[in-house]
Amino acid sequence: MNILVTGGAGFIGSHTLIELYKAGHTAVVLDNLSNSNPEALKRVAEIIGIREIPFYKVDIRDREGLGKVFAEHRFDACIHFAGLKAVGESVEKPWEYYENNIGGTLVLVDVMRKNGCKNIIFSSSATVYGDPEEIPITENCPKGQCTNPYGWTKSMLEQVLMDIQKADPEWNVVLLRYFNPVGAHPSGRIGENPNGIPNNLMPYITQVAVGKRKELGVFGNDYNTPDGTGVRDYIHVVDLANAHVCALQAIERNCGIGIYNVGTGNGYSVLDMVKAFIRVNGVDVPYSIKPRRAGDIATCYCNPAKAKAELGWEANYGIDDMVRDSWHWQSQNPDGYPEA
Ligand code: NAD
Ligand code: UFG
Repeated sequence: MNILVTGGAGFIGSHTLIELYKAGHTAVVLDNLSNSNPEALKRVAEIIGIREIPFYKVDIRDREGLGKVFAEHRFDACIHFAGLKAVGESVEKPWEYYENNIGGTLVLVDVMRKNGCKNIIFSSSATVYGDPEEIPITENCPKGQCTNPYGWTKSMLEQVLMDIQKADPEWNVVLLRYFNPVGAHPSGRIGENPNGIPNNLMPYITQVAVGKRKELGVFGNDYNTPDGTGVRDYIHVVDLANAHVCALQAIERNCGIGIYNVGTGNGYSVLDMVKAFIRVNGVDVPYSIKPRRAGDIATCYCNPAKAKAELGWEANYGIDDMVRDSWHWQSQNPDGYPEA
């Protein structure tokens, strides 16, 4: 299939491009580079062994720009990663998050249908479950109250896309609810490249390990979890990338609406991650216990059985692979990608 990959220069998008080409697909990337670097696409092409990945620096809110891309290519499906994703920033800038993520997706989907492309895989998030009613979380678990505007954009866009599919059954809509993506391509050539101080655990750990930050703050050790620190379902980004390849097969089978948790089903605490990182990589990660972070929940991990049964997808990488590949990327690229 020929796939439009929005946000393809970003962390998950760049890894997905590799798995798409490995599976025999081709891709065109559309990204406004607001949170990414074109160097990632060069490196993706190098890993795949092609001259370049077709790329358009276009914003998904730019109807005319999108129209030009669709005039030059015929797409079988779109994998839609483009969006703003910083939880804390979304609380400060709700308008920007709703306008970019929701406004942008509405324009994208309209241009898609006008050009006869009615297949979309959307990057949703475990955040739509809020404080989940059941652990492990199945897709039958009701959606909850999100604690920030970023989460609401995911929850609302799920509804928007499902309503569009109900009104026009020619659409196939796959909502992938990612748990906590970490790790990097085993080559160490591409990985997560956050701007400024990382919000997420794994990039913070790797930046402490590489000497860019003094110590990790562990946000709370008084949760109702085995060691008191927060428990999450960390998933290797290459496994996550492969879930999109499997979702394309579901689209080929005309799945209608498909909703899937994408996680390993294992819950690891903050201290489990830190200890695994130190053990596997032989580098120290100084840390101290800090107060709880507002909006955090104690435990979040999924039951991924539905994705296995219906998509034939399951995670293959374990915690040691995740911490090894995260460190491989960070240690070889201490400052991330070079400035373009
Ligand atoms: P990322 O920021 O690395 O990638 C997103 C890409 O979208 C960036 O390259 C950015 O430049 C681009 N972009 C943003 N707004 C755009 C716009 N208006 N037009 C065109 N391009 C735009 O993030 P990621 O970690 O790769 O996440 C990809 C998707 O997965 C996002 O939608 C994110 O919300 C979702 N997600 C991420 C996580 C996570 O923890 N990383 C968890 C759940 C869901
Ligand atoms: N944590 C720390 N110190 C840090 C950063 C995080 O102790 O410096 C802890 C958090 O308190 C939490 C765990 O590490 O217990 C994971 O935190 P992350 O920020 O890495 O991830 P979250 O589970 O909070 O959120 C992530 C994404 C969201 C997404 C959600 C569910 O950031 O976008 O997973 O998919 F919605």
